[in-house]
Amino acid sequence: MKKIGILTGGADCCGLNSVIRAVVRKAMQEGYVVTGIKNGWNGLVENDMRILDLRTTSGILDRGGTILGTSRLIPPLEEEKMERIIENFKRSGIDALIVVGGEDTLKIALELEKIGNIPIIGVPKSVDNALSGTDYAFGFDTAVNIATECIDRLHTTAESHHRIIVIEVMGRYTGWIALEAGIAGGANFMLVPEVPVDINKLCDSLRARHKRGKMFSLIVVAEGAKIIGYTPSHPDRRTERRRHRVSNIGELLANLIEDNTGYETRVSVLGHIQRGGTPTAFDRILGTRFGVRAVDLVKQGKFGKMVSLRSNKICFVDIGEAVRKRKALDEDFLEIAGVFSEYIE
Ligand code: F6P
Repeated sequence: MKKIGILTGGADCCGLNSVIRAVVRKAMQEGYVVTGIKNGWNGLVENDMRILDLRTTSGILDRGGTILGTSRLIPPLEEEKMERIIENFKRSGIDALIVVGGEDTLKIALELEKIGNIPIIGVPKSVDNALSGTDYAFGFDTAVNIATECIDRLHTTAESHHRIIVIEVMGRYTGWIALEAGIAGGANFMLVPEVPVDINKLCDSLRARHKRGKMFSLIVVAEGAKIIGYTPSHPDRRTERRRHRVSNIGELLANLIEDNTGYETRVSVLGHIQRGGTPTAFDRILGTRFGVRAVDLVKQGKFGKMVSLRSNKICFVDIGEAVRKRKALDEDFLEIAGVFSEYIE
């Protein structure tokens, strides 16, 4: 009987368990045995795996995170680790590996396919929606819904206290969450990494709002946004082996606004709240569709491919295409957001 392996790597998010469940269901129907690899690529380094079946994957659809655990490994991996992964993979008897992850995890997959000849199918995961080759990855929709709910909650308190509230959301390199949640939550300003912020212009717009009688403002800022001429006290740092927390842009922005305008300003950093809890129906369905089609690709022997969503259809692209460059913000989307954000240039 043929064996499929599955691992989840990189940052966790909502929808991972939907993929695992769907892969197991579909694979078992097709006569495969499924091995779950623990904690991303580390599971193959340490030879930590277990058989998955209907019993071990039941009741997980509505749970965030991943029952397999995950780890963040930054490519390129040390030679020794790569060798151990290849050796343990060969020894496991796994015929094909389904790798669920974002940019870093899939880059490692590509390398392993090249040097170790490991047959891999990719499944895209990105909270920030920063992965190319697919319209959406799962995890993003849940993050947008959580951020929208937070904006709604912060709206009433900002209005009551006549304050400015800065809401920092995820988005290290792209402003997808800031734009989508900003539009859905009716934010007054949306600041994204793609458009550097001129603090003087932003403060002028805030003063203009006040003059119009709008005594409160909601500013959504992506964690990777840049303010021209200023650097956060904890700039985003990424060392060889690990990521550090991203910059404290929200705090910097709130301080600059308060110093500049004299308006009382508060900051709310949503952080990992956006990654946890209960997946939305969209993420559960997308994860399920991806999982089922990933097994189909294994059956067809289409290795080196990643399942993807294009115009609401599941198709596939080369993994290389997905990781070559980050997905840019959609120009059209940016223009639409500009109608509602008082600061998008
Ligand atoms: O990669 C997705 C992401 O959610 C980023 O937006 C964020 O900066 C980062 O992960 C933080 O994750 P961790 O603290 O787990 O490294």
